[in-house]
Amino acid sequence: MSLHSLIAALPKAELHVHIEGTLEPELMFEIAQRNGVEIPYRNVEEIRAAYEFHNLQSFLDIYYAGAAVLLHEQDFFDLTYAYLLRCKADNVVHTEIFFDPQTHTARGVAFETVIGGMLRACEAARKEWGISSLLIMCFLRHLSEESAFETLEQALPFKENIIGVGLDSSEVGHPPSKFERVFARAREAGFLTVAHAGEEGPPQYVREALDLLEVARIDHGVRSEEDEELMERLVDLQMPLTVCPLSNLKLKVVGQLAQHNLRRMLKRGVLVTVNSDDPAYFGGYVNHNFTELADALDLTAGEIRTLCKNSFAASFLSDEEKERWCSRIDKIV
Ligand code: ADE
Ligand code: ZN
Repeated sequence: MSLHSLIAALPKAELHVHIEGTLEPELMFEIAQRNGVEIPYRNVEEIRAAYEFHNLQSFLDIYYAGAAVLLHEQDFFDLTYAYLLRCKADNVVHTEIFFDPQTHTARGVAFETVIGGMLRACEAARKEWGISSLLIMCFLRHLSEESAFETLEQALPFKENIIGVGLDSSEVGHPPSKFERVFARAREAGFLTVAHAGEEGPPQYVREALDLLEVARIDHGVRSEEDEELMERLVDLQMPLTVCPLSNLKLKVVGQLAQHNLRRMLKRGVLVTVNSDDPAYFGGYVNHNFTELADALDLTAGEIRTLCKNSFAASFLSDEEKERWCSRIDKIV
């Protein structure tokens, strides 16, 4: 079996995907038209042409503007259902989806509109294709602690439908310490925690995410490699890093995929996983991230298998489900 066929054949979990980042230009255009929302593009080609980024912030500005077309429960259903169809195509059998309520509540869209549409799509994907999903609510770190606390309050009635909380948006200048108290309250309420750290920010932010936010996973974390002691700690803890190769390339965290440190970290014993982050903006879903990375870094079949097993090991599935998927991987030859 070729490496690309192996990638397609192996079941996998996706642990780092922002639902707002799965809004394909075609759907953005369609929803904008039906909702009568003005967007600064005349057609789908113009939307695609705007997707040239030089860092995280230049992407976020365009990404938040695109999300402004989403108004109704049906919009969030359509968005999530379209993403889950891509999961089916890529053999992603389990996904843990980030959503950013503040991006929507700031525009007057109710929290329940956002989560209601997402949950309905997740339920349809479970019934129709057997894909399991969990939701992780992210706080926008460029906004205040007070706004994060308000968002946490809004989430409490939906506690049973939200497995954890995360932290995303503009990293530099907004360290995890800014949200220490919010995360403490979230943990008290029973939420698991994750955080974006070490994407553009320094290794110190990864340390803060571990020490102050008590995260179960680090999202990105690629800059951890600059701190040898931190690397040892990540290996000792078997702390998962949800790495997003094409995102790192498009946001210029790395100059070329061939320079990506994922393989080095894998060899060093870090529990790394491969994810798509914002696939509609960065040029590919999970399998495309795998194939591009495999070609650029000359990954072996064994390494591809390990990465797929890692995706389950690092997930919030039960131990039984993790075991079941990992033994399924062993049976595919
Ligand atoms: N929100 C969506 N994608 C993100 C990323 N790569 N980093 C931080 N915040 C994000
Ligand atoms: Zn992300």
